[in-house]
Order: sequence, then structure tokens, then C-alpha cells
Amino acid sequence: MTATTPTRPALIDLHPPAADMRRLVQEGLQRAPRQLPAWFLYDAEGSQLFDQICQQPEYSLTRTEIALLEQSAQEIATAMGSGVIVEFGAGSARKVGPLLEAMQPSAYVALDISAAHLQQATAALQSAYPAVPMLGICCDHSRLEALPDHTLLQGQRRLGFFPGSSLGNFTQEEAVQLLRRFRLLLDGGPLLLGLDQPKSQARLEAAYDDAAGISAAFARNLLQRLNRDLNADFQPQRFRYQAQWQAEQSRVRMALVSDCAQTVCIGSSPWHFAADEPLVTEYSVKYSPEMARELAEAAGWRWCRRWHDPADDLSLHWLEAAD
Ligand code: AVI
Repeated sequence: MTATTPTRPALIDLHPPAADMRRLVQEGLQRAPRQLPAWFLYDAEGSQLFDQICQQPEYSLTRTEIALLEQSAQEIATAMGSGVIVEFGAGSARKVGPLLEAMQPSAYVALDISAAHLQQATAALQSAYPAVPMLGICCDHSRLEALPDHTLLQGQRRLGFFPGSSLGNFTQEEAVQLLRRFRLLLDGGPLLLGLDQPKSQARLEAAYDDAAGISAAFARNLLQRLNRDLNADFQPQRFRYQAQWQAEQSRVRMALVSDCAQTVCIGSSPWHFAADEPLVTEYSVKYSPEMARELAEAAGWRWCRRWHDPADDLSLHWLEAAD
């Protein structure tokens, strides 16, 4: 008998057009402090740099969450039941394996902003799990109105999976909006939400400014992307990278700080940066279990339980749609 090669998962491309990016950049640069949407960090190069961040000794979030998923997958499967797994912000899709094994879903649907990365990730996963039908959707899930009408999703209960503490990259108000949106997209199905928790300032600042300089390169790549995609003329070396724990807001703020007074053109629009002015590239909000529960309830979810690692550094929260 000859072994069959799994077919490459289909990809639906709903990436926002360049005109939307230009508008979002303009809006972001008018904010105080200036801030760009975190998803801009994830072009093909940024997605690869993020994978490298996940391997840095200072950044334990990914390793800890994978170990927790491996350990708890069976309990999670029993709690959440079956259906099609819909993963938001799948990245390299390295976390869903234990759930695919324990839940035996009817299909796996991965959403991510980088088409190239998504295609690679779903193809690799399909080889490892040839029996699970898979689909990739390239999109900004924070603006998606509905999941596409695809056969893998029709008539199936939807099980949402949002690991990696990616919700932390939204402000708390935006996070409530996003969780509300997920309620609609999941159409009554549950959500497994991975959130990192507050810890010491030294640990958090090291995690977001690793000694090898990968976090800094990840942030500077955003400027290279703007140069390429929006015809901007940033000089990335004129911005220094900074990661600061802001205890009052329970978040790490990552920024590129202008080294000098300078004017940068994006297309034909000039933007002036004062010396020491920050351009926020990302926030990473850290949610205590109490904060997570409040957030979920504010967005119309019923909090059911959480699984956490032995040190209680991060949690996987099981949420059900409240009636
Ligand atoms: C994707 N996200 C959850 C990461 C985080 O931890 O906030 C993004 C990141 N940026 C720099 N390091 C990690």
C-alpha cells in the first residue's frame, strides 16, 4: 500500500488592504503617545522573529503554556466537548497539538495575520495530523465580522482557542470588545483563553528585552515593514528599543524611542518625532486570575474554571457563552 501525502490546507486570504494600513498608521501616529496596531509586527520576517523570541531563555511563556496544555489536554477535552477548533492568532500553530489529540475535533481552522506564516504552519501541522481537515484564514481577527461560510465550519459546534496571552496585546477596553467579537464568531461555542499573569518587574522586563536582542529586532522590523509597504523612510537605528513594566496598568509597554528630533515621511506625509518621544509598538497586559474573570464577564462570557502551571505563572481559562 502506498502512503498518501496529506493535501495542503486551503487558505482564505482576507488580509486588510494597504489603504487600510495607511489609515491605521495615520490614526496611530496621531495618538498620544503614538502607537501602532500590534498586528503590524507580524509580516513574514516579524513572525519568524517572534518564533525566535519564544525560544529565548528569558521568555518562558510559550514553553510553560505548551507544557500546561500537554498536561491538561484530556481534562480540557472533557470539559469543552467536541466540534471544530478555531484558533485565533495561530502563529506557528505549535500549541494546538495536544488538543487535536485529546479532542479529536471535526476540523481545525487557524486564523492569523501573516499569510506566508499561516500557510507554512498549517502545512506542517497537516503532515503531523493527516486525519484532521484543516483550513487557514489570513485576517485581522479584531475586525472580522463573521467566519467565512466554509464546509469545515458549517453545522459544527465551534471551540475557540486563543492561547499565548495575545489578548494582552490589546488595551483592556479593546480586549473586552475582542472577547465580545469572539462570542459572535464562535456562535455560542466555548473559548479556551491563555493569559499570562503579573510577576516581578525584573522578570517581565527581561522577558521583553532579551539579552540576544531579538525583541528589539522584532520591534525595529515594524519600521522596516512601514518603509517597504507604505513607502516610509524610517531609519530604524535612530530609535532605541525599550520595554517597561507599568505596574498601575498591569502591563509591559514596548516602544521605539526616537534618539533625536527627526522627521520621517510615510508616503508624502511628514511626521515629526521629538527627541526621546516614544512610538509604542505593543502593550502586553498581564491578567491575574481575578482580572481575567472580570474581563470575561464584562464581555458576556461565563467563567468556568482555569488550569495553571505549577508556579502559577499563567492560566488557561475555560469560558462559556453566558445566556
Ligand atoms: C504575541 N504576544 C502574546 C507576545 C507577548 O508576550 O505579549 C508578543 C511579544 N512581543 C514581544 N515579545 C513578545
